[in-house]
Amino acid sequence: MIFDTHAHYDDEAFDADREKLLESLPEHGIGAVVNVGASMRGAKDSWRLMQEHDFIYGAIGIHPDHAGEMDEEGLQQLREMLRHPKAVAVGEIGLDYYWDRETHEVQKKWFTAQMELALELKKPIIVHSREAAKDTCDCIKEVHAGKPGFAGGVIHCYSGSVEMAREYIKMGYYIGIGGVVTFKNARVLKEVAAEIPLERIVTETDCPYLAPVPYRGKRNCSLYIPFIIEEIAKIKGMTPYEVEQATWKNARRLYRLD
Ligand code: NI
Repeated sequence: MIFDTHAHYDDEAFDADREKLLESLPEHGIGAVVNVGASMRGAKDSWRLMQEHDFIYGAIGIHPDHAGEMDEEGLQQLREMLRHPKAVAVGEIGLDYYWDRETHEVQKKWFTAQMELALELKKPIIVHSREAAKDTCDCIKEVHAGKPGFAGGVIHCYSGSVEMAREYIKMGYYIGIGGVVTFKNARVLKEVAAEIPLERIVTETDCPYLAPVPYRGKRNCSLYIPFIIEEIAKIKGMTPYEVEQATWKNARRLYRLD
């Protein structure tokens, strides 16, 4: 079965057909989806979606673009939502120096606070990092990796070097690979997929964004994950079935569903 470890079905891109699309996923081999909150509204929508659908789990957290919305009361709201057993991770959290919507200081403050919340609740983290590879890795090392309560996590939509991927794996994290791996110009990511062990790779869409070839530029959804699996299989010289089985198990280990 296929595991979509990172989706945003609360996004308005799905307003017209959300329920119909979600209902069609299990019959197409999509066994589980983690819907990931980005804003406070998104976190609440994830919390609702995971209670409405058996195969949907939720990640609850505030994306660095929305770090400015956060305060102590917001953190307490996240803590309460995360107590639900289907809230499997804190995320997505991290640093985004590409959009730079909040100061780096504010982004780091709430990235740190949410990593501490994950340690407190013994839940994994989903990390977003864009144009901030070094700072993200430094923050994770300082605040999260190997600390009491550590439950690992995933570096979602991984875009760093092979070396850094190895470092994250050594610290106990998974590497999230999505549609970008199918792009012709994704040389480094293809190299990452080749070099790191299959046991540390999980599949994701980040839908509605980042649809794989041949749907590049269109609205993405979990139904397109087979194109990602096929590409990883080709890179690794395995069958798509082997990759599907391994990544399914990896995702269940990551989110502690066993
Ligand atoms: Ni995302």
